Amino acid sequence: MMKAVYKVLAYAMAVEVVVQATAIAVAMFGLTKWIDGGGVLDKAEMESHGSSYPEVIGFAIHGINGQMLVPLIALLLLVSSFFAKVPGAVKWAGVVLALVVVQILLGVFGHAVTALGALHGLNALLLFSAAVVAARLARKVTTEPAASRAAGPAAADVAATA
Ligand code: HEM
Repeated sequence: MMKAVYKVLAYAMAVEVVVQATAIAVAMFGLTKWIDGGGVLDKAEMESHGSSYPEVIGFAIHGINGQMLVPLIALLLLVSSFFAKVPGAVKWAGVVLALVVVQILLGVFGHAVTALGALHGLNALLLFSAAVVAARLARKVTTEPAASRAAGPAAADVAATA
């Protein structure tokens, strides 16, 4: 049961990285399309939290998701890893949580030190990979006994026909 919870949370983390990339990309395309059509982006517009263009919601989704849902999933993943009875799960859940902390710090401080944006993109790829590795640890454990069970009758068939 806990193994399944751990696995779902790990895959959810990978999906979250995709959601984050999608939200920010759609928001940026919306912004540039709006400016192209005569829209003007200044400090007042940025702080108005208005809806001058519909894709602006992507920035809000990215910020809220990134600072609330993603860290919550990372914490739950670490907690579940202690009970999942999957070798390496605690280590990889720890790696995922550490990458999430770094990702959020890079996102927040990227506004002041823009070069951090490059690391924010790169770290997102590391986070995606670590989440998939963490999830696949659980898959390995569940498939091995099934594989040996499947080999049983098949081996018996071979013996019977020989
Ligand atoms: C789970 C993965 C990610 C998390 C947790 C995350 C988190 C964050 C956070 C907390 C911020 C600051 C938001 C704010 O100050 O209101 C931010 C900003 C940003 N992130 Fe991410 N991010 C993730 C993935 C990505 C990816 C994959 C990309 C692009 C490929 C990206 C691009 C950006 C950009 C361009 C900004 C600045 C714009 C903005 O603040 O809305 N992020 N991110």
